Amino acid sequence: MDKIQQVVIDTFTDHFGEAPALLVRAPGRVNLIGEHTDYNDGFVLPLAINRTVWIALRPREDDRVRVYLMDFQQEVDFSLDQLEKGPSNPLEYIKGMAWALESAGLNLKAWEGVLKSDVPIGAGLSSSAALEMATARAFHAVSGFVWNKAQIAKLGQKTENQWIGVKSGIMDQMISVSGQAGYALLIDCRSLETELVPLPTDTAVVILDTSTRRGLVGGAYNERRAQCEEAARFFRVKALRDVNLDQLEAHMDQLEPLTRRRARHVVSENERTLAARDAMKANDPSKLGRLMNDSHDSLRDDFEVSTDALNAIVECARGHWACYGARMTGAGFGGCAVALVKANGATDFAQQVAECYRTATGHTAQIYITSAAEGASTV
Ligand code: GLA
Repeated sequence: MDKIQQVVIDTFTDHFGEAPALLVRAPGRVNLIGEHTDYNDGFVLPLAINRTVWIALRPREDDRVRVYLMDFQQEVDFSLDQLEKGPSNPLEYIKGMAWALESAGLNLKAWEGVLKSDVPIGAGLSSSAALEMATARAFHAVSGFVWNKAQIAKLGQKTENQWIGVKSGIMDQMISVSGQAGYALLIDCRSLETELVPLPTDTAVVILDTSTRRGLVGGAYNERRAQCEEAARFFRVKALRDVNLDQLEAHMDQLEPLTRRRARHVVSENERTLAARDAMKANDPSKLGRLMNDSHDSLRDDFEVSTDALNAIVECARGHWACYGARMTGAGFGGCAVALVKANGATDFAQQVAECYRTATGHTAQIYITSAAEGASTV
């Protein structure tokens, strides 16, 4: 049993004087490739990771949801009949998710429980999507509505967009709800169709946390979105998903240089993501690694969402013999990079990269060798 799982059960038992009736979980994620493509109706290729939000709970008869947030040593509660926005803190994701589920006409019952997470916050590993999906799963467990993964993911995105105020895409919620152990998932962010893609044999996925943090609510993310929408308007298409590299090149001169670079990232990243899926299906880690490297360079130079710390850790990773490829992952502006490495070199890789990164920047990296986990579930 997962260590946190046990801690959550024990804490519930101490708190409520009996064992929890239900235990639910939802994972964070790391994106292998397909960055800043989801809100352009494009393709992404993430996997759910073995970092998880856990909730132990029991139903309540009234309308109140009460949660003990172990990581904040804080007890919060709210009424399902009176959902009002408060200052942004972990509670808002729980409340916002209740609001989104109710807005879809789902009949919610109340619950009380204990919540703990080991998804690092603000690291680009989707701690908030994991919290939303775990919350949705808790409501599902006590209320019994139909668990439609795409619908639940969209309601999580609605929570982000309308309750929290971040205009994020659909990737994080989709993978947290649909991940499968041992696989990455190609997600078509327009149709929400998914395809399981196996990780190449004898490889490990390593998460390299720079220990530098971003603020997603900050303007830079929404600004990138606006720039992409402007490029789509220029091409008179719904989203940049509908533009290919030839079309982009044919009109290069008419586009303003900044818009051109933003569009070039998205259009080329969609092509790389599909090529990455093919490389994985052909069990070709070298090809996948090259595509990941190209993705990083494009995010650094054209989309301009990388940072010195991310570039430094990526360079350290690429210098190691076991590394097939490395790139920043998630929104950028800090947080994590991801590397694909030879499984038998993963431990040495983790040590060497940590040392190299400390020498280059003075920061201490957190490095996790991860496996592909299962999406949100009731245990
Ligand atoms: C954040 C958002 C996602 C996606 C990535 C960038 O994680 O929540 O929707 O846009 O950034 O790929």
